[in-house]
Amino acid sequence: MSGPFAAKRILLGVSGSIAAYKAVDLASKLTQAGADVDVLMSYSATRFVTPLTFRGVTHRPVVTDLLDPASPEAVEHVALAIAADALVVAPATAHMLAKLALGLADDPISVTALATGAPLIVAPAMDANMWEHPAVQKNVETLESRGAMVVGPGRGRLASGLFGWGRLAETPELLGRIAQALGRKGDLAGRTVVVSAGGTAEPIDPVRVVTNRSSGKMGHAVAEAARDRGAHVVLVTTADLDDPPGVETVRVETAAEMLDAVLSAAKNADALVMAAAVADYRPAEVRPEKIKKDKTDALTVEMVRTTDILSAAPRGIVRVGFAAESTDLLGHARAKLASKDLDLIVANDITLPEAGFGADTNKVTLLDADGDEDLPLMSKYDVAYRVLDRVVRLIAAKRGALR
Ligand code: CTP
Repeated sequence: MSGPFAAKRILLGVSGSIAAYKAVDLASKLTQAGADVDVLMSYSATRFVTPLTFRGVTHRPVVTDLLDPASPEAVEHVALAIAADALVVAPATAHMLAKLALGLADDPISVTALATGAPLIVAPAMDANMWEHPAVQKNVETLESRGAMVVGPGRGRLASGLFGWGRLAETPELLGRIAQALGRKGDLAGRTVVVSAGGTAEPIDPVRVVTNRSSGKMGHAVAEAARDRGAHVVLVTTADLDDPPGVETVRVETAAEMLDAVLSAAKNADALVMAAAVADYRPAEVRPEKIKKDKTDALTVEMVRTTDILSAAPRGIVRVGFAAESTDLLGHARAKLASKDLDLIVANDITLPEAGFGADTNKVTLLDADGDEDLPLMSKYDVAYRVLDRVVRLIAAKRGALR
């Protein structure tokens, strides 16, 4: 199994909030993604959800009492803490945040938090008034100042019936941020990577656009994979997909908006990966009123060229293009590598059903100055990972050349 959680050892601390039931889903998703998940529960958490439930989804013993001589974890918890890649406390109650901030150690979670050197991720869940209380806010600040990652809480309807801040972050948000925490010392740490994704839409009139079939999945996968290797990521996207957690996401629609957003982010970047399908042409004028069919039998829309974003991007950064082709894949891709003066081009044959628009897999060839590398069919995340392997080397080469 590949992906950010494969073979990772994650300690999941569950404290006593009604949101404890949502931690079961998190434990299950982490396990399915290949992580070894050891769940630690406070006594009050066991009143909301039974340890057996967590055991059922993680297939591992659950630590509920460090002082129980019958439990193997009574002496093993320090070993768990030392071997861990991350400690996630979700949900973290106001009481648990206070204990973690103060360094108290009277339950399996707070003891482990002191014993581990792994990154700490806390996901608070409580009533809105509690969350807003200065005592809680101060504890959150303390934890953040020590390097903890605080995820959420979200805003919405709370168990008390109140509406406000205090909901446990949703599982996808937690998974993304845990992946980010696991990769914070990765080979893109300290680097900024700008990624574009999706197809642009060029308006003809107030209701119609000229667009293409790009789903944005490839670009979003590049953004997530770069995040998981420690990069600060700016994703400029048109895609109808959720914002990847832990990624600075800029929403755009047209090629001109994408140009502005990409060039502004690229000023401070180390690499630009243009996975977006940018319109090469846009209507010369946008009609202010809806075009009515009773006015004419045939319609001609004059189109003009858009600016090439990759060619306009600064030369000091690594520039990666994508070439989606239906004929002479390598010939066209190599020509684009040269004409756009790129460091790398990712070529894919869109006539293959498993590599076309909207698929979760892709089959690509990487082309740069050194030659071609034909990759097998793999998930878009794995393709992204292989592209970034090259980007890491290209950034190092470029930075070396500038010294
Ligand atoms: N690209 C860009 N700015 C544009 C158009 C495309 O930066 N205005 C980028 C795409 O994001 C992609 C690469 O250029 O990384 C694709 O090259 P492009 O010349 O647009 O290819 P196609 O339009 O697919 O092909 P063709 O040359 O056949 O039109």
